[in-house]
Amino acid sequence: MAVRRKPTKAELRRQKMEELVMYPVDWLEERSGLIGGVRYFLFRNVPADINWMQTLGSAALTAFLVQAITGVILAMYYTPSAATDPATGKPVAWESIVNITDHLFMGWLVRGMHRWGASVFIILMFLHMGRVFLFGAYKYPRELNWIIGVLILVMGMMEGFTGYLLPWDQTAYWATVVGINLNGTAPFLGPWLAQFLRGGQEIGGETLTRFYSLHMLVIPGAIIALITLHLYLVIRLGVTSPPWSKDAAGREPVEDESPARAGLTRPVPHAEPGGRQ
Ligand code: HEM
Repeated sequence: MAVRRKPTKAELRRQKMEELVMYPVDWLEERSGLIGGVRYFLFRNVPADINWMQTLGSAALTAFLVQAITGVILAMYYTPSAATDPATGKPVAWESIVNITDHLFMGWLVRGMHRWGASVFIILMFLHMGRVFLFGAYKYPRELNWIIGVLILVMGMMEGFTGYLLPWDQTAYWATVVGINLNGTAPFLGPWLAQFLRGGQEIGGETLTRFYSLHMLVIPGAIIALITLHLYLVIRLGVTSPPWSKDAAGREPVEDESPARAGLTRPVPHAEPGGRQ
């Protein structure tokens, strides 16, 4: 029979520390189930033959988070005003950008990360989309997630378009003139869209305020909602195997005896018009 020895003082202290750390975690889990949810998200099963290309979605997510964090910092110092500063004769918005870049502690870094990060975000989204396309991962049952992805891509590009005007310099102004005029040539909705984006007949203070609101409230809100939905579907449907795998997307599902995990949808053969299974 094993004899239980008395725990040492160090062991007791360690046990106490563990209880102290776990108390808030257990408190939250008991009342919300959130910790279990996060654990399920982080430790869910994925196919054994996935590869590095399947991390591009997470890379795009990281790029988006960098944009969100640096954007919040920039918003604390940026002034979206097209008015002229009477002391210098220069636009207030442009001056606030110069202040961030030249005078704030590490402001150049935060602004640089946000500016370059915008391109990185778009490039990663395209690479991720290319991977999904080449792996056939847009096929049944993931068509809806592809559509949500396309909406995220459109929103991402709108973020770029609205953000480009904010420095309120010559490049920003004329790029926006071109962008709005292009939108204006769309059939039926074009003229209305151009008018909506300008906020009047001319590009001016109204346009800047409008673009700022779209850039830091409306579009990021929509992107966050869409990413949440996107990830929900990734978890619900599971990640696809590469095309060279026996379980590749679009193949007939392999008969599997193991019980499905709760909440996980297994692709099943679906009837096509004409009766073919
Ligand atoms: C902010 C942009 C996006 C983020 C953060 C994101 C995130 C993710 C993540 C983390 C995954 C799972 C693992 C992986 O394949 O990387 C995934 C899968 C997927 N994404 Fe995206 N995604 C984005 C944009 C897009 C776009 C633009 C499309 C297509 C138009 C798309 C379509 C899909 C599809 C169909 C899947 C399922 C792939 C599979 O099961 O293998 N996503 N996404």
